[in-house]
Amino acid sequence: MTIKKALVWFVLLTCVAISGNGANAQQPAPTPRIDLVPVPASVKFNPERLTVDASFKVATRGHSDDRLKAAIARFMKRLEGRTVLTLEPGLAVDDQMTQLIVHCDGPGRNVPSVAENESYRIDITRRQAILKAPTVVGAIRGLETLLQLLNADRNGYYLPGVLIEDQPRFPWRGLMIDVARHFQTMETLKRNLDAMAAVKLNVFHWHLTEDQGFRVESKKYPKLHQLGSDGNYFTHEQVKEIIAYARDRGIRVVPEFDIPGHSTSWLVGYPELGSAPGPYTIERRPGIFEPALDPTREEVYKFLDGFLSEMAALFPDEYLHIGGDENEGKQWDRNPAIQAYMKEKGIKDNHALQAYFNTRLLKILQKNGKKMIGWDEILQPELPKDIVIHSWRGTAALAEAARKGYDGILSNGYYIDLIQPASHHYASDPLPADSTLTPAEAKHVLGGEATMWAEWVTPETIDSRIWPRTAAIAERLWSPRTVTDVNDMYRRLAIISLQLEELGLLHKKNQDMMLRRLVRHDDTGPLKTLVSVVEPVKEYRRYQMRPQTMLSPLTGVIDAALPDAEGARRFTWMVKEFLADAPRYQLYRSELIEMLSEWQESGAALGPMIDHSPALKEIKPLTKGLSELGDVGLEAISYLKLGQPPTREWREATTLKLDEAAKPYAALEFMVVPAVKQLVQAATEIGQPRPTSVSSTP
Ligand code: ACM
Repeated sequence: MTIKKALVWFVLLTCVAISGNGANAQQPAPTPRIDLVPVPASVKFNPERLTVDASFKVATRGHSDDRLKAAIARFMKRLEGRTVLTLEPGLAVDDQMTQLIVHCDGPGRNVPSVAENESYRIDITRRQAILKAPTVVGAIRGLETLLQLLNADRNGYYLPGVLIEDQPRFPWRGLMIDVARHFQTMETLKRNLDAMAAVKLNVFHWHLTEDQGFRVESKKYPKLHQLGSDGNYFTHEQVKEIIAYARDRGIRVVPEFDIPGHSTSWLVGYPELGSAPGPYTIERRPGIFEPALDPTREEVYKFLDGFLSEMAALFPDEYLHIGGDENEGKQWDRNPAIQAYMKEKGIKDNHALQAYFNTRLLKILQKNGKKMIGWDEILQPELPKDIVIHSWRGTAALAEAARKGYDGILSNGYYIDLIQPASHHYASDPLPADSTLTPAEAKHVLGGEATMWAEWVTPETIDSRIWPRTAAIAERLWSPRTVTDVNDMYRRLAIISLQLEELGLLHKKNQDMMLRRLVRHDDTGPLKTLVSVVEPVKEYRRYQMRPQTMLSPLTGVIDAALPDAEGARRFTWMVKEFLADAPRYQLYRSELIEMLSEWQESGAALGPMIDHSPALKEIKPLTKGLSELGDVGLEAISYLKLGQPPTREWREATTLKLDEAAKPYAALEFMVVPAVKQLVQAATEIGQPRPTSVSSTP
């Protein structure tokens, strides 16, 4: 991207924020834009501002403890990092000169809990900022808001005058990370916990076991991790370290051991638990597989009692997730002993058999003082009302559970592995406006979780699949339901995305590294241009188009490409403005011409680049598409500018080119085709009475 273009986009994203917050000390500022994610429950700006300079100090009032002190120390470090000011370390005495007072009433829950009070209040005037919270977790949430409030102009850094009163809409706001399909490092988890805290998420759902890997050490049954993990698992010490790290940030850790299906990796070391004889090997493919624990044998429950008791002692959270999804029961159908058992006990089908399994599991969890949570499939009348339903199927399933008296959380709509735009996730509400639940029933809807299924992510790429889109989900779960402006969400997402980098998140910077590795050169220009307007194919099409296994490198162009491709979003936005400027067609015209010309040039320049890097060969068909989209867009703009309708031949040739560019290759698809089509459509309509709509197809 040229500097000029980068600047145009930066201004598009932030212009109002800059003009809103840019007033100097002499002139009262107009009401600033809220640059916060998530948007607080209540924000009232005042015209004052609190200067942030090298004298900036923090003192505590009321309750203080190590967790609060550590949170304030992290706050100061990040403030220093952003401002390049050297601040006095440690806490100050609470006096007239202290710029920030953090006033906590008490510690809150010792173990982070769904019942934690996370509210806080921030009052900033010219003299002082006061952050007041009933608990340390509330104060931790408020410190994140303060960092997001930091602003600057030619007079220096400052916090705007504001009164914020804030609390979450839902108590359960999670991110699930599947560390089983692809293992994730301690560092990866820690930086993602930091990012979660930055957007006020409070549950790390740790998906620890799958067909493709068993990722936690078991001292009781060591063959689980020894034979089920390729040596990639978390030791008890590491688990404790993550739990402590999360607690420090007011985040609960809910472990998931997915049974009875999704369990191949358990059976590698303990085939006798399975419903077919085995032997078993670690699954390397993505998909749904047959292996399932045998729910009819007492030895299986004895084993699960031992294992789950060990895990219940390791994980302090009140809830334990038992998975329960996607067991098709094919092994059960084929096992004569299981069939005989069902007949004898009057268990009518596989659903009833799984319900029986779950009632046995529930007893084990209850004995260990845990509440059960599981995916939709565990909702069966046999189970008591104190289990939590984790809905991957949708709000209707969640509402049905709530009506029956079950607590539930939503993940349908929050599957961030499916490469949907942030706007898609943002539209998914656990309690939509048209919900017919009574207030009492609605209380059963505890919140939701983004789910990072890990078929196609490694520590190198996972941040870019989680962030910044998960910040939009975090906002949906924290902010009032009425906060729904998609454009403003994207504007703020761009701001928060930069702030996440200060926490070590790799979602932006790893793309450049991956492109350099592919190109084998510092100059990635043409490839970067291509990647800025394509996205990986959505939903589950990646595997169909470009099959790989869990052992394949995830280092291709598709892995470097990002959801919500920024160039495509910028182009689409500018086309909309340009076409709205009819019949002048001046707005963003030169920027569009520059962008389209760059596509033409990059398309041509990619050829030699691909010859030099065989790993790029798969994107060859996209280079022609990029050039042709550039050609077609430029020609359409030229027709519009001249006010001359294109010929029939041009329209026919253009349609063929656009149809070709709409086809995905290398599991990548151009996200700019609809906007180029709009240009072509507008050109086709030149001279026709408006607003008659004419199809672009001849
Ligand atoms: C799931 O997506 N099977 C929970």
